[in-house]
Amino acid sequence: MTGKQKYHSTQEYDDDLIALLEAVWGDGFMSPGSTGEVDRIVDGLNLKGMTVLDIGCGVGGGDVHFASNYEPATVIGIDVESHLIDRCRTLSERRGTSHITDFRCVDPGPLPLPDASVDLVFSKDSIIHIPDKGALAADIFRCLKPGGYFAASDWLAGYDGHPPAEMQAYIEAEGLDFAPASAKVYQCALADAGFDNIQINDRNTWYRQEARHERDNLAGALSSRLETAVGREFLKREIEVWDKMIIALDQRQLMPTHLRARKPD
Ligand SMILES: C[S@@+](CC[C@H](N)C(=O)[O-])C[C@H]1O[C@@H](n2cnc3c(N)ncnc32)[C@H](O)[C@@H]1O
Repeated sequence: MTGKQKYHSTQEYDDDLIALLEAVWGDGFMSPGSTGEVDRIVDGLNLKGMTVLDIGCGVGGGDVHFASNYEPATVIGIDVESHLIDRCRTLSERRGTSHITDFRCVDPGPLPLPDASVDLVFSKDSIIHIPDKGALAADIFRCLKPGGYFAASDWLAGYDGHPPAEMQAYIEAEGLDFAPASAKVYQCALADAGFDNIQINDRNTWYRQEARHERDNLAGALSSRLETAVGREFLKREIEVWDKMIIALDQRQLMPTHLRARKPD
């Protein structure tokens, strides 16, 4: 793997940010929609007895949900931040699923799994952190068993090339290491890797509405609890991030999207 292909990330989700994200999105979640959105991402797939890999598992809400409700054999959650992996393990122990889950802190880069060892590669809103979508798609394809599925959500770009001003303002406000790419880039990456049955479903309309509720909650019902937990200044800054995000969503520059593809038999 050359330097260019290395999937890049840094340690950037601190305790205050996680506290705020979990307050908005639910225990165990650092992305929108909680368990309902996880269910929609894997809708129609049978996970019973399967080995599931979750790329960018965050604090483990999705993995524990799979382990509790889908009867998989194993759910392997990987993330680049070790303090998040510690939280995953704690959550899984608390929910009684640690015999099914296997959380691993990994370096950004090739997936540390053998060829054809996984039935489902899942990911929720994490691939935005990984710039080289082509290298990642090829690596996911390598890890999947024939007939296995990739089912994910991610935050895509509604444009090609440089971000328009509204999206740039949102990315800068967020301050996270984002590398969004368009649906065309994902489509090519998955097709070039060898996947078939590629489906790319726009979730912008849903999240535009949802984000407004979240913003109202941050400024309203959640505000006094969050002021105590993370401080008034941090909360104010995050509300500004939400305002910028809503503009980027309204302009269809930020495109939450469901992705699905199958490795041929
Ligand atoms: C927005 S959070 C989503 C977490 C989780 N999937 C969820 O929905 O709650 C993005 C996650 O991707 C992780 N991440 C960033 N770069 C990564 C990489 N190269 N490999 C695996 N995980 C990565 C981050 O540490 C973070 O936990």
